[in-house]
Amino acid sequence: MRVDPAQKQAWERTSNSQNVFLKGSSALFDYKKLFDLTGKKALVVGAGSGIGEAAALGLAAHGAHVLLGDLNIEAAQKVADTIKSTGGSAEAIPFDMRDGDAVKKIFEGLTDLDVLVSTPAINVRKELLNMSEEEFDRVLTLNLKGTFRLITAAGRNMKARGKGSIIAFASIRALTVEPGQGVYAATKAGVLQMCRTLAAELGPHGVRVNAIGPGVVDTPLTAPIAANKDWYGAYAAKSALGRWAKPHEMAGAVVYLASDAGSFATGTLTIVDGGWTAVDGRFTPPL
Ligand SMILES: NC(=O)c1ccc[n+]([C@@H]2O[C@H](COP(=O)([O-])OP(=O)(O)OC[C@H]3O[C@@H](n4cnc5c(N)ncnc54)[C@H](O)[C@@H]3O)[C@@H](O)[C@H]2O)c1
Repeated sequence: MRVDPAQKQAWERTSNSQNVFLKGSSALFDYKKLFDLTGKKALVVGAGSGIGEAAALGLAAHGAHVLLGDLNIEAAQKVADTIKSTGGSAEAIPFDMRDGDAVKKIFEGLTDLDVLVSTPAINVRKELLNMSEEEFDRVLTLNLKGTFRLITAAGRNMKARGKGSIIAFASIRALTVEPGQGVYAATKAGVLQMCRTLAAELGPHGVRVNAIGPGVVDTPLTAPIAANKDWYGAYAAKSALGRWAKPHEMAGAVVYLASDAGSFATGTLTIVDGGWTAVDGRFTPPL
């Protein structure tokens, strides 16, 4: 097999060359190691709860050393202890992604980071005409500016190394809306477009950047909806699968994008929504 040296270099940057072995004179890919993260260092921000917790557990189960960053350090420590008790490698670190100086300092010590997963976000559910500027700022500060801070800090370190995978949680709300989701949806569309742009800027440097768009997932973030039977049921009925997701159902997309399994995926919005955005309404015609 003839390989152009420039192409070979670009390939080696964005895929794990250890996964290629030689058989006779030809290079073969070891498909059994597609999702293997042994020797990789991952930072999951928001790892103390919900989707971030599941992402951390998933990455650790595939061999990564996982740093669990969260505002709630006790919660992150509990998840780190669970990982360690099952033979994994993890460390909880206090983390506030709204604090620019603190984030900068943490990333100064993370020059060898392979994977970043950014999850924290808040939602203020109100019609736009009733939304105050203070509420607007609060949602933007965490969801958009916080994510910007994380993905650019990781991007700088990974660009210097010539490799890495950045994953940010957007939402189906980056694409489709309902009353009361205006500011949250705007931040999620912003996260998606920042990820796409960063993917374009860092692709030539071997760094991949992707967003994940969950549908509805049972977590503390959505607990107020789950407490309303009609609201909860209506959301379940909207997806093709007729139910909500559990947090662990988001971990597969994270591991895929973090590992060699996703080595050609960049600039994507990976939708994991039980078919929510595929189905136009839930009317089934009398066929
Ligand atoms: N749950 C859903 O149905 C759903 C649907 C679509 C998208 N999402 C997105 O997935 C992501 C994760 O959502 P979730 O439901 O797991 O949320 P969650 O509220 O359960 O967890 C968020 C975690 O982030 C931490 N956190 C909050 N502020 C922080 C800060 N400033 N710095 C560091 N950590 C902080 C919290 O302590 C918590 O552990 C969010 O971006 C959310 O918008 C969730």
